[in-house]
Amino acid sequence: MKSSAIDLTYEEITEKLARHENKTLLRFIACGSVDDGKSTLIGRLLHDTKGVFDDQLARAESESKKFGTQGTDTDYALLVDALAAEREQGITIDVAYRYFATERRKFIVADTPGHEQYTRNMITGASNADAAIILVDARRGLSTQTYRHSYLVSLMGIKNIVLVLNKMDLINYSAETYQQIVDSYREFADSAGIENFTTIPVSALKGDNMVEPSTNTSWYHGPTLLSWLETVKVDNDIKRKQPFRMAVQWVNRPNLDFRGYTGTISGGSVKPGDAIRIQPSGKTANIAKIITADAELDQAVAGQAVTLTLDNEIDVVRGDVISTTEQPASTADQFECSIVWMHDDALLPGREYLLKVGAQTVTANVTDIKYEVNVDTLEQIAAKKLDLNSIGVCNLSTDRQIAFDPYDENRETGSFILIDRVTNQTVGAGMLHFALRRSDNIHMQAVDVDKAMRSQLKQQKACVLWFTGLSGAGKSTVANIVEKKLSALGRHTYLLDGDNVRHGLNKDLGFTDADRVENIRRIGEVAGLMVDSGLIVLTAFISPFRSERQMARNLVENDEFLEVYVETPLALAEERDPKGLYKKARKGELKNFTGIDSPYEPPENPEILVDTASLSAEQAAEKVLSELRRTGII
Ligand code: ADX
Repeated sequence: MKSSAIDLTYEEITEKLARHENKTLLRFIACGSVDDGKSTLIGRLLHDTKGVFDDQLARAESESKKFGTQGTDTDYALLVDALAAEREQGITIDVAYRYFATERRKFIVADTPGHEQYTRNMITGASNADAAIILVDARRGLSTQTYRHSYLVSLMGIKNIVLVLNKMDLINYSAETYQQIVDSYREFADSAGIENFTTIPVSALKGDNMVEPSTNTSWYHGPTLLSWLETVKVDNDIKRKQPFRMAVQWVNRPNLDFRGYTGTISGGSVKPGDAIRIQPSGKTANIAKIITADAELDQAVAGQAVTLTLDNEIDVVRGDVISTTEQPASTADQFECSIVWMHDDALLPGREYLLKVGAQTVTANVTDIKYEVNVDTLEQIAAKKLDLNSIGVCNLSTDRQIAFDPYDENRETGSFILIDRVTNQTVGAGMLHFALRRSDNIHMQAVDVDKAMRSQLKQQKACVLWFTGLSGAGKSTVANIVEKKLSALGRHTYLLDGDNVRHGLNKDLGFTDADRVENIRRIGEVAGLMVDSGLIVLTAFISPFRSERQMARNLVENDEFLEVYVETPLALAEERDPKGLYKKARKGELKNFTGIDSPYEPPENPEILVDTASLSAEQAAEKVLSELRRTGII
């Protein structure tokens, strides 16, 4: 008998899939450690159900259904896709998927190890799970890990939670101990906002209450683990009752006569003739046809991948969300959300990240961390940044309106990932709570006198000369000479200098990474306003991070931003030490000093590079001016 096949042939897989075609699929996550007996538990489920020790089958299933007409369970969450792509790039995520089936259902279990990258693993495993097993060693009772896992699972919107008390055989199937643990879990669940959970006493090793009710626990009258798994509500059943949603993944335009929008339905159902609204644009139309690879359908439901055509040639782009007209997806550009941070470099308010929700990608930044949640105690703590594995409730701002639903209402249109703009890595995952009303009430005011007119009056081309470099590199000195020369040429200029601005506008900021990000964000905005007023702006700030220099660049037009890298070897800057700060930093009297214990990320492609180790300040300034002449700015 083949109870655990390692290598299935394609035919075997197809045959297995065909047999299980019409059963519902339950995805669940198993949380716990090896010590709690997790491997034994999963092994037992697979063994007793003659399951397959292989994620090959699960993957084949999802693939085979992606374009099929029966595809009811195809939508792999965004995060899983993103993280799977990273895994291929060699970044470790240790979520193993296992597949098994019974007469009633098919199952995919995500097995996530609990070591230090646990948040990332857990979020990956939980992001498309219908149910979660929280495993506890009955001898040891609840642990910090139990709380963490439960909190994360509930944060991810999993409503079916089962607390499995394992190793009951080792405590002589004591009803009393079982009850004590259940009582204290109930207390925790109340404070964590977990409304419903089931508890089951088992011995994964001996098989008690795993598949068959155990005679050793005659005091227990609830379900066995398998019967619980076979009967809990599957997400897709719930999704079908929600308002219709489909994010447009592709716009198909093979010829001028055909225009179709392809995606996976994430909520509700749709029929030809249904009135729909495209969000965020708000345009309306009716569904003409529902098409799949091999048929035209009378109806399609959540989970299916389809192509929709409309009765009306309205403009729909990739990322738009097609919704019902009665209950359309919301649109906003300011939100409250939860964010789970998954990277070593902390999340910093003000820093720009790419945000991907559904098929929409926008630029976003956290405007405020309202609080961080201590996952062990559920306490809310004040935070200026979110470190690896931290969870925070934040206000978030996007650079344009996006279509969304609160995560509570739709796990797909309500969840997002954050991507680092420089490295392209997925650094965070989040859930949208609600739109901040602010975004509806503040609009851009159109003005009649514009940048072109103001520049013209001054007879110059407005721009920013963004000087960056180590402290002591000579930024202020060179910028000062450049400004004098420009003034002599009759140009209207303004020099924003780090040390000066930090006495006024930015006197509330210090030198932590978070404060430097905010320092540069403000200067970027001020420089942008000054360019708008027609000035040639010079900024002299260390501005150590690429990410914020990029942000400042994005605030003006392409040809209006010139990054001037004032390059000097650290040793030389330290030798010059005009303010004696390097000396202090070396003695440990000044913390977070750039180049010593705080990083400097040199520009990769500066428009202008001046090397003050070989050029005098005067020569460096002349080089900047000749570059301005060459590019036609003066
Ligand atoms: S930035 O990193 O946020 O861009 P900014 O250019 O505004 O820095 O300020 C740098 C100036 O502040 C330096 O020229 C130096 O005189 C002073 N300074 C004081 N403490 C520090 C520090 N820890 N790191 C760097 N510069 C510091």
